[in-house]
Amino acid sequence: MIENKLQTGEAYLNMDMLRFTTAGSVDDGKSTLIGRLLYDSKSIFEDQMEAIEKTSKSSGEEEVNLALLTDGLQAEREQKITIDVAYRYFATPKRKFIIADTPGHTQYTRNMVTGASTADLAIILVDASKGLLTQSRRHAFISSLLRIPHLVVAINKMDLVDYDEKVFDKIVSDFKEFSHKLDISDITFIPISALKGDNVVDKSDNTDWYNGSTLLHHLENVKVDAGENIRDFRLPVQYVIRPNRNFRGFSGQVASGHVRPGDEVKVLPSGLTTKVKEIVTRDGNLEAAFTGDSITLTMEDEIDISRGDMIVRKNNVPTVRNEFEAYICWMNEKAMGLNKQYILQHTSRTVQVFVEDLFYRINVDTLSREQAEKLDLNEIGRVKLKTSLPLFFDPYQINQKTGSFIIIDPASNVTVGAGMIRAGSTVAKESGQTISEKLISPNVIWEPWNIPREEREKRNGHKAKVFWFTGISGAGKSTIARELEKKLWNEGKRTMLLDGDQVRHGLNGDLGFSPKDRAENIRRVGQVARLFFEHGNIVLCTFVSPYVKDREAVKAMFPEETDFIEIHVTCSPDTAKKRDPKGLYKKAEKGEISGLTGFDSEHESPKNPDLIINTDSLSVEEAVNEIYKLFE
Ligand code: ADX
Repeated sequence: MIENKLQTGEAYLNMDMLRFTTAGSVDDGKSTLIGRLLYDSKSIFEDQMEAIEKTSKSSGEEEVNLALLTDGLQAEREQKITIDVAYRYFATPKRKFIIADTPGHTQYTRNMVTGASTADLAIILVDASKGLLTQSRRHAFISSLLRIPHLVVAINKMDLVDYDEKVFDKIVSDFKEFSHKLDISDITFIPISALKGDNVVDKSDNTDWYNGSTLLHHLENVKVDAGENIRDFRLPVQYVIRPNRNFRGFSGQVASGHVRPGDEVKVLPSGLTTKVKEIVTRDGNLEAAFTGDSITLTMEDEIDISRGDMIVRKNNVPTVRNEFEAYICWMNEKAMGLNKQYILQHTSRTVQVFVEDLFYRINVDTLSREQAEKLDLNEIGRVKLKTSLPLFFDPYQINQKTGSFIIIDPASNVTVGAGMIRAGSTVAKESGQTISEKLISPNVIWEPWNIPREEREKRNGHKAKVFWFTGISGAGKSTIARELEKKLWNEGKRTMLLDGDQVRHGLNGDLGFSPKDRAENIRRVGQVARLFFEHGNIVLCTFVSPYVKDREAVKAMFPEETDFIEIHVTCSPDTAKKRDPKGLYKKAEKGEISGLTGFDSEHESPKNPDLIINTDSLSVEEAVNEIYKLFE
């Protein structure tokens, strides 16, 4: 039963539930939109509805003022000190919904960051009569930083522009021009009028030219995948429970992964190890606990564990450091300054923090990097932080719970910033060791590069880059990469080709094809790619690499997202079978091998690859040319 749950991810995934957040200001019609969703889907109580109709009428409004539905929450929100997000729930026969409803004043960054971090989907509202503004670009950028998998751009107030298709198309094309540079895998554009009800719940008669779904239909049907990290067990300890001398329990909410009695665990920061004895909950003991479960663990040995510690699996520990880099969204009128002292809250730990360095600020209109000395309200930047005590963290890309934090002003106790950890310390960043630091002996010291990459790039006349080709066996990864390498070589570029079959002959000859072995295969290759990268090469890596998490982990080893280009090489299963370059499909069909990717083992498609090459329709030469364009 538990094995089954683990395999299907069922324990983490409630297909009937969608969490979403809305971004936009009052002027964009956000409250009205939420009101409209609730009203038209009949998710509010009748007496509420009558009250609103009455109030609207008595104030002489022509339409029912749906914003009244959500504005009732305002007072409640204002009492909250740190996080002003209210959650509202509604349901249709198809699905349950949780809206992280963020109030619509101008401090949208704060609201987005605090409300959206666990959202499956974000709705960005654009006022059709105003066109695409900086604010919407900012929302899209933050959604991408937060790795919200689905984005809906709801182009609202279509009634004000006479439901003009051209207005809609212009906003769509403006948005696309900007968003292709972002890490967002799924964007849907819907023309709506929240006020009049067009395409929110019911299909509009005013937009014949629009063939897509209504907003509610989209929300009901969008595929939700298990975004949570189900692999790495992390339990931040919130309380130590000691009712009598015979019982000592450690309580908290499982931030990621799962745990069972008998598991060997390690306690951070002490490093002491023991085994889990029991998983205690209010409703009795559990056989296993998963992400999000609130539990109390008892241990086989009497070891010292305190609030703020983290319990993890013995052989899978997070990074333990007091220096790291992060993206920060600043949320306060008082700017973020360098070397100022703040409080940082990360899982169950609260520590002091200094901003040691601000590498750059991001211009959200152009996505370019600007030099800056401070971050003002709503600005986003990449920083280096130093904390008074080490944190136990994973990069945000790998683990959203242990990779995020908030910053609090010690004087006012107000949340002033939110951050996403990007990599380890500069040392870890330089060595690319974020993933495998756990494997390093403390006696191994990192020596910085003798000749920095920038020098090498200057001499080579080109940037160092990693091109990662992923796809099933027979899709054409190696063939294309080999041709591409020839072309680059002929132009005098420095290249290196790392291929699955070759690497598995030597360096990784000890590894098979279980998920665990493949993860290790990809981790090692990532490290090697990183070394060649630092030496100024264009590194072409061709690996089946079927798992998103493994590829994400490699990506996180590189200093910038743009250093790592992910190319999904695909073809139909039939084509791959026909090509069968190594005779593996034939073997699999005869039952001689099992677990062949593309046959009886899944390849997880990249959510947002830089390029998809479909070799059913493209020749090798065309594929090479497509990829080559990325250099320009
Ligand atoms: S990965 O999954 O760990 O990324 P990698 O790219 O290194 O795989 O190696 C794939 C190569 O190993 C294939 O090109 C194929 O020749 C061979 N191979 C043998 N067994 C399998 C299998 N079960 N699944 C995929 N490739 C396999």
